[in-house]
Amino acid sequence: MNPRLGVNIDHVATLRQARGEAYPSLVEAADHALNAGADQITIHLREDRRHIQDTDVPAIQMVTQRYGKPLNLELGANEDIMAVAMEVKPQWYCLVPEKREERTTEGGLDLKSAKNFEKIKASCAQLKENHPEAKISLFVESDLATLEQVIKCDVDAVEIHTGDFAMDFIAEESLAQYFTDYKLAYDLIKENNLGFHAGHGLTDQSLQPLVQLGLFEEYNIGHWIICDSVFCGLTTSINKLKKILENKR
Ligand code: PXP
Repeated sequence: MNPRLGVNIDHVATLRQARGEAYPSLVEAADHALNAGADQITIHLREDRRHIQDTDVPAIQMVTQRYGKPLNLELGANEDIMAVAMEVKPQWYCLVPEKREERTTEGGLDLKSAKNFEKIKASCAQLKENHPEAKISLFVESDLATLEQVIKCDVDAVEIHTGDFAMDFIAEESLAQYFTDYKLAYDLIKENNLGFHAGHGLTDQSLQPLVQLGLFEEYNIGHWIICDSVFCGLTTSINKLKKILENKR
């Protein structure tokens, strides 16, 4: 089976919020993405609401439901955001760390701190209690100590943070250590029957060696798709990635 492509449309909302207009439409973006073959729509409702707004979440979910595809809602373990999420009940929740001053998510969850770990574990339990059919992934680094902590939470998948890998790819640094780490991470995660997802910072170029590695079952990609689509449209940009995922380069 080819890996799935989650299309993150946050930056369509970034454009909209830049001018405070009602366009470009997030509903239309989700519709175009799914029509082009996206396997799910991913959005991040941030505490500062810098792109996705509360009302976007149910509106986008109506589109994903029409296509019979999942909505993957990224969220910080914050009471206010959790309340919106639990109202909408998407198929997937992806818990991420969040700092107000960051430009974008800057790394995986810190599960080695006992306090953070308890908070994330409790948030997972709360999400599952509210919505037992929901699936949860935790956005984490690939180190085994963190993954051992993930396994103690009642979750369905990990999403490995690929931001550093993607930057080193662009800088033409050696990638061998990432591949070793991802394989060790994969083995542990699969022993525990969880899904193995990846995301952050990926482009059409940096995606290719990961697809060749053949470990990740799902990729969530946003910024590159929206940037590339300025020149050739959302459908063409998504098709470029779908072809890579089908290994037809
Ligand atoms: N996965 C997670 C958990 C993220 O936080 C983000 C950014 O919102 C992405 C994937 C997509 O990253 P990018 O926009 O860099 O492709």
